[in-house]
Amino acid sequence: MFDFLSQRLALQNTLHRFRQRTLLSHVVGKTTDENSVSNNYVDVDGKRYLNFSSNDYLALNNHHKINQALQQGADKYGLCSTGSSLISGYSYAHQALEEIICTWLNKPKCLLFNSGFSANSGVLQALGETHCNFYLDKLSHASIINGAYGSKAQVKRFLHNDIGQLTRLMTTAKKKSPDNEQLIVSEGVFSMDGDQANIAQLSSLARQQNSLLYIDDAHSIGVLGAQGQGSCRLANIDITMATFGKAIATSGAFVACDETVFEYLVNFCRDYIYSTAMSPAMAWATKASIELIQTQQWRRDKIAVLSQSFIKKMDNCFEILPSNSSIHAIVIGSEEKTLLASQMLKQKGIWLTAIRPPTVTNNKSRLRVTICANHKDNDIKYLTDCLKEISQKIKNR
Ligand SMILES: Cc1ncc(COP(=O)(O)O)c(C=O)c1O
Repeated sequence: MFDFLSQRLALQNTLHRFRQRTLLSHVVGKTTDENSVSNNYVDVDGKRYLNFSSNDYLALNNHHKINQALQQGADKYGLCSTGSSLISGYSYAHQALEEIICTWLNKPKCLLFNSGFSANSGVLQALGETHCNFYLDKLSHASIINGAYGSKAQVKRFLHNDIGQLTRLMTTAKKKSPDNEQLIVSEGVFSMDGDQANIAQLSSLARQQNSLLYIDDAHSIGVLGAQGQGSCRLANIDITMATFGKAIATSGAFVACDETVFEYLVNFCRDYIYSTAMSPAMAWATKASIELIQTQQWRRDKIAVLSQSFIKKMDNCFEILPSNSSIHAIVIGSEEKTLLASQMLKQKGIWLTAIRPPTVTNNKSRLRVTICANHKDNDIKYLTDCLKEISQKIKNR
């Protein structure tokens, strides 16, 4: 029975695409004052590694104020929400978090989800009726693809960041079905490439084409903008989704939008209606994290300075994709070479996991370096020295 399970696993192995979890313990030392951060290390099998694969971009994980808020939230509002948001699960902690996000992003309404995956998947499924056209950037995250193709909308993909092709697709589709609703979907910062969408152009195209604009800001929130508010500072975005599990360093997600979209989602988004609301303690901790993010510009500045230093110190030893974010993709190509590079770095005490298809396209396997506010100048120097050292060996294989 189900013979295909072992057959497909064997094939994964042959293709160097087999995936495994690793038990990893983050070395999260206590931070006591506002400007201090612990080191960015992980312990695996009794050995310590310098971590360059973390999404805790602002180094807020284990911040004492967020931990205190979690405890306070648990004491005041409980760890468990006890029900879905529409039955008994919506508390003052959730409302307070929604309010701070609305003010931060200058949006009338906001609603909370248990994960970014669930938010993208649920919202796009709810919005996609038969008379809708969805336009997705080619590099959209798996949760966007799940939501769009799981809906009744007609889904079209445009080449990564290619506004010209998107415009042509929309114009042609409009001639065929002039009454269809249109939704452009993109990411603010792309998760595996680290580059940005041109939000201003997408927003003005959306206005011209009478379309809504949906942006997944998972990797921009906290990291970009004077108060860390991500892409929404660049132009009008109708619907913004972002996860709390990366720069915000808690867990869950939000969708910010106008009143009508909000009411529609509360009434028709199955992921929202039929899921236990996020933990109120987590909502309270998340609010504390956003308060820190709004005021602690030094964390964003540090990422920018270290990123510049990384690009310079790499000295073109590998191809790096252009980026203004925390994410720097070193594209190596084959799965085998990328795994080898990751393994060689591991031997030198660096944790940098190989990203392979189907997460990225064939022959675009890569090392996805993330630079965080708790890296030091010396960490960047050590990483780039090691990369230079292995580069010829990898290229000559
Ligand atoms: C672009 C993007 N969107 C959505 C998600 C899903 O968010 P979450 O981890 O909260 O489910 C991720 C990553 O996990 C992501 O990279």
